[in-house]
Amino acid sequence: MSILEKIAAHAKKVIEYSDPLKGENIPYEGRLLFNENLFLPLQYYESLLEEVRNKLNESVRFYPSTSLKEEVTCRLCRIYNLDPSSVMLTAGADEGIKLALETVALYGRSRTVLIVRPCYSMPLVYSANMQIDLCSIFIDRENLKLPLTLIEDVIREKRPDLIFVCSPNNPIGMSHDMKELRELAELAQDAVLLIDETYVDYSDQDCSTLVRNFDNVIIVRSLSKSWGLAGLRIGYIISSETLLKTLRGLAQPFNISSVGLVMLSRALEMAHIVRRSIEDAKRIREYLYMKLREISKIRQVFPSKTNFITFSLGDSEKSLRVFSRLKERRIYVRKISEPYYDDCLRVTVAPKDIVDKFLLELNEVISGVS
Ligand SMILES: Cc1ncc(COP(=O)(O)O)c(C=O)c1O
Repeated sequence: MSILEKIAAHAKKVIEYSDPLKGENIPYEGRLLFNENLFLPLQYYESLLEEVRNKLNESVRFYPSTSLKEEVTCRLCRIYNLDPSSVMLTAGADEGIKLALETVALYGRSRTVLIVRPCYSMPLVYSANMQIDLCSIFIDRENLKLPLTLIEDVIREKRPDLIFVCSPNNPIGMSHDMKELRELAELAQDAVLLIDETYVDYSDQDCSTLVRNFDNVIIVRSLSKSWGLAGLRIGYIISSETLLKTLRGLAQPFNISSVGLVMLSRALEMAHIVRRSIEDAKRIREYLYMKLREISKIRQVFPSKTNFITFSLGDSEKSLRVFSRLKERRIYVRKISEPYYDDCLRVTVAPKDIVDKFLLELNEVISGVS
């Protein structure tokens, strides 16, 4: 088969990202599906824009500056207490995940990944599109623990090249115990352990210490959520020297735009504003958690270390009806489609007036749905 014939055959199976909004223009207070930071004040964004206006050539006319990239990386490392030689900026956490999976597609022995689920959709999408075999292990929703014994069995039988785990977990929100993650890094041995820490800033633990002790660990993080910069597409990887060198070789030389670098450098100077917004979100998260638990038709509310909360309405059809009714009222939450969790809805934590409006509408909708 020629390459074109192979591509044509593969094209039929390609999974493309599908936008849940599909071009719909929803109001700010109804945007409760992407876990963006709805707490940051407009002045924060105005300062970013002002920085670009002051540095128009560096932001738009010129190629992105390598020295600015290095400077910004160092500043980020100071904030998170990281060694700059272990950090690489990426075009969102998504690029980090993609690069890690590309190492499997290129250098993998079994070309198999083990994914701890439920999880964020992109590792599943990339694996399928890169024709990487997938093994899934599901977290038990009663104890919410990392299923280490099952993982150990799969490692023995399938020898996966990469293990993906999301902590704090999207979509269910809890962090895995640090001791268990360390055990997993030990179990992984010959495999890459990819930890998605996109929501780390809303949690009270940080896996970056694992990178100091295990050279098979890749951590991906995002500036889309806590830093409120989803539109800029910036994230970063923390990993060992050898893995980073390989990942850098696969990335584009200018993976972060000049505008992105200039705005990020200004955003990092406003870390105190970001920190305050995180504290506000954590406070409202506990309020929302408590309020959701008071609604009798809600069967389970998952404790969260993120800026969203996931809850169950008992069955998938009921949750779909609630989801659709909320949508009719221009409130968009996420309907979870992962197996064993498809009875759940996920809502972004937002400022109190938005959360109160959401709770009001949710209560009305739920009482009208049998
Ligand atoms: C768990 C998880 N990982 C990665 C991403 C992608 O983040 P980014 O916008 O940095 O690509 C998301 C976005 O929703 C996410 O929830």
